[in-house]
Amino acid sequence: MTALGSPFLVQPLLDSLEASTQDVSSAITLPPEVYTSTEVLAFEREALFAKEWLCAGRAERIPNPGDWFTVTICDEPIIVVRDKTGDINAMSAVCQHRAMQVCDGSGNSSTFKCPYHHWNYALDGRLLGAPAMERTVDFDRSEYGLPRLGVDLWQGFVFVNLDPDAAPLAPTLTDYDPFIANYDLADAVCPGTFTLSNLPWNWKVMFENFNDGYHANRLHQYVQDFCPSNLSEFPVEWNDDSNVVFRTGGYTHIDGGFNATHHSIMPVFPKLTDEERTRSTFALVPPTLCLGSAPDQCFFFLVRPTGPETIDVEIGYIFHPSALDDPLFEHKLKLTDVGVQVFVEQDQDATTKVQRGLRSQFAPRGRYSWQEESHVRFNRWLTKRYRQHAADTAESTDTPGTAAPVAVSGGNDN
Ligand code: FES
Ligand SMILES: [Fe+2]
Repeated sequence: MTALGSPFLVQPLLDSLEASTQDVSSAITLPPEVYTSTEVLAFEREALFAKEWLCAGRAERIPNPGDWFTVTICDEPIIVVRDKTGDINAMSAVCQHRAMQVCDGSGNSSTFKCPYHHWNYALDGRLLGAPAMERTVDFDRSEYGLPRLGVDLWQGFVFVNLDPDAAPLAPTLTDYDPFIANYDLADAVCPGTFTLSNLPWNWKVMFENFNDGYHANRLHQYVQDFCPSNLSEFPVEWNDDSNVVFRTGGYTHIDGGFNATHHSIMPVFPKLTDEERTRSTFALVPPTLCLGSAPDQCFFFLVRPTGPETIDVEIGYIFHPSALDDPLFEHKLKLTDVGVQVFVEQDQDATTKVQRGLRSQFAPRGRYSWQEESHVRFNRWLTKRYRQHAADTAESTDTPGTAAPVAVSGGNDN
């Protein structure tokens, strides 16, 4: 049984998605309820957040053995830690005694001792000790370790997977790799992040806005005129096995920048070609990472649903390491930030009002411009996973002696 109830209820929703996966010239937008419904988010927790790779943050946050940080993604508190051998581990932060979160924030430790009753866990999650449990019958410490999660690294980002046996992420991002390779992001620097809490729109509205070239020099008229909507390109054909949806946004001049000068402020990444210095890229690695590039910086949003119509977004910039050598770095960072805030405020106004519109009885299933090809690709990514989860669930509930549930259509994933 899925979070949407019986397969009989899932099927109409799945069927209705078909029209959103067609060619951009024919497709219509997703049904409004996928952005507003509590049941759909519960379904997505099973279908997406429990199965897909979730970006936890930058590996550079934990350079030394024992360094750790926590992050809560869709109600799952998670620890990311560098162990004594230098490997990165991820595990649930939920104590296997009575569910307290064993640690919160960030720090450096040799073990994780739960503050409540002092059960003590190793950096790989094994339960090392539990006081006053000697009278507890059949208590086997080895059965009460913190649940381990899958870990993969890509471009200096740590991804975790609630399914420790999930297939690795990086091989599914190779369509985008050539577009970001010259940034050497694994060796670049992220000076810190800031988090905007409980923003009033669905996580998919956030993803769509991030990858929406159609609004570039319209909503952001004047501030983004150097990167106009008509220079949006989708340089790689959609591949149904891909986990990255991306586009490029061409500039009217080299070394453009998302600030009032329309020019780069920080050092341009030195390996970039002239072509790369004359465009941005915008990439989604759903359901958590939005990553963009400009000649002097990359920028990322870590999107975390807190409800069907609310999200937290952790935002960070990534610069070439030489940026930190500039005595004016802090001043330039402020300039960068002020520039980005202009976009953020305009985008926030739009996404707030989109979410409001999606609750209306007049919410449309609208049509797309060619400049919105990304949305159709995102719809295909999403629909494939919705269908897969519904099919898996139907299979597992199809037990002998009960009425067979409606078969979930394989449909057209293209
Ligand atoms: S809840 Fe963690 S030790 Fe009791
Ligand atoms: Fe925008």
